[in-house]
Amino acid sequence: MSPYAHITGWGMAVPEHILTNDDLAQRIDTSDEWITSRTGIHQRHIASRDQTTASLAVQASIHALESAGLSPGELDLIIVSTSSPEYLFPATACLVQDRLGASKAGAFDLLAACSGFIYALIISTQSIRSGDIQNALIIGSETLSRMVNWKDRNTSVLFGDGAGAFVLQAQEERGGIISSVMRSDGSGGDLLILPAGGSAMPASPETVLNHQHYVQMNGREVFRFASRVMAQATEEVVKKVQLTMDDVHLVIPHQANQRIIESALKSLNLPIERCMINLDRYGNTSTASIPIATCEAIQQGRLKPGDNVVFVGFGAGLTWGAALAVWSGLIPGAPKHVLPLHFKLYARLQSIIRRFLRHIDALIWGRHNPPI
Ligand code: ACO
Repeated sequence: MSPYAHITGWGMAVPEHILTNDDLAQRIDTSDEWITSRTGIHQRHIASRDQTTASLAVQASIHALESAGLSPGELDLIIVSTSSPEYLFPATACLVQDRLGASKAGAFDLLAACSGFIYALIISTQSIRSGDIQNALIIGSETLSRMVNWKDRNTSVLFGDGAGAFVLQAQEERGGIISSVMRSDGSGGDLLILPAGGSAMPASPETVLNHQHYVQMNGREVFRFASRVMAQATEEVVKKVQLTMDDVHLVIPHQANQRIIESALKSLNLPIERCMINLDRYGNTSTASIPIATCEAIQQGRLKPGDNVVFVGFGAGLTWGAALAVWSGLIPGAPKHVLPLHFKLYARLQSIIRRFLRHIDALIWGRHNPPI
């Protein structure tokens, strides 16, 4: 029997700095009334100069590992879902791997925009269910504040920075992610795009002058697409395991816009009390929004072991997807030997030693290849 992929740990990290709608109204032609009525957003968190996608990801990961009682050395896989990676390469996931000291984990980035965390959840579940790996860490982390044009009122009011992480572990007992759907439609790729900086449009003085390194969006089209697919994907994932919406205790949707969520709930005939919404305080944190909302749902006591919870998201690509989990909660008796400061110090030391050994290796072998 293939093992199940249980969610056994979770954590989140958001920057301290808060930017309110009124703050924005002092910079651009907008108002608290417009932003609140069109989106439901009141404020968002913005990364400080020394905070990056990787640093937020590491913070969220440490909380997730702590709650699972798992040390980084036990991880087999790290996936960082992000649209604001530190670099095109190396992957932000490798930076996280190094800073956590997860010495036996494979690590890669996943780019499916705001649907990325759902994709990561599904891919890591499949790796666990195949019997290939035991423990995975998946992270949604964004600093999109670095990629929006702060003079563009169409986009700058929407996004916020933050990170959220889950630990998934193999267990024989039925539970964890039991149903999923992943979908895409690249014909809508131009609706939400960061045009320059890739191989299609390498960075140049023109791309900078034309503001092509910023997020560009056709809000109305994205809105229509999102309202349709959120409900569809939720229904599909529920039906796949012969359940009905009555069996779903909580829906945790991507937190983009209150009106998109309400429209999906209306199609699903689901009362708002069975949906987690916290976008008023964080804005759209893209791929981080679902794990952040999950952490807050747990803090508020809205998820208990055995509950059926649906995670559902949509984003640029276009991409969308959903996953249904039987909520596992903390593993009873999970070891509590995991101390965040120890992780960081040990990982730093390990990284320095590895760099030093590579240096010695280069000194010994010079330009020659080592013997096989
Ligand atoms: N303040 C004041 N006025 C504004 C602002 C603003 N911040 N932004 C736009 N407007 C104006 C527009 O210029 C327009 O004016 P006009 O009628 O004179 O042309 C008017 O408000 C109405 O604009 P609409 O685009 O029709 O506004 P709408 O009700 O559609 O709301 C919004 C815009 C909030 C962007 C909505 O379309 C939306 O939420 N879309 C989905 C966006 C989304 O979820 N994106 C993230 C996807 S996830 C990912 O992958 C990153």
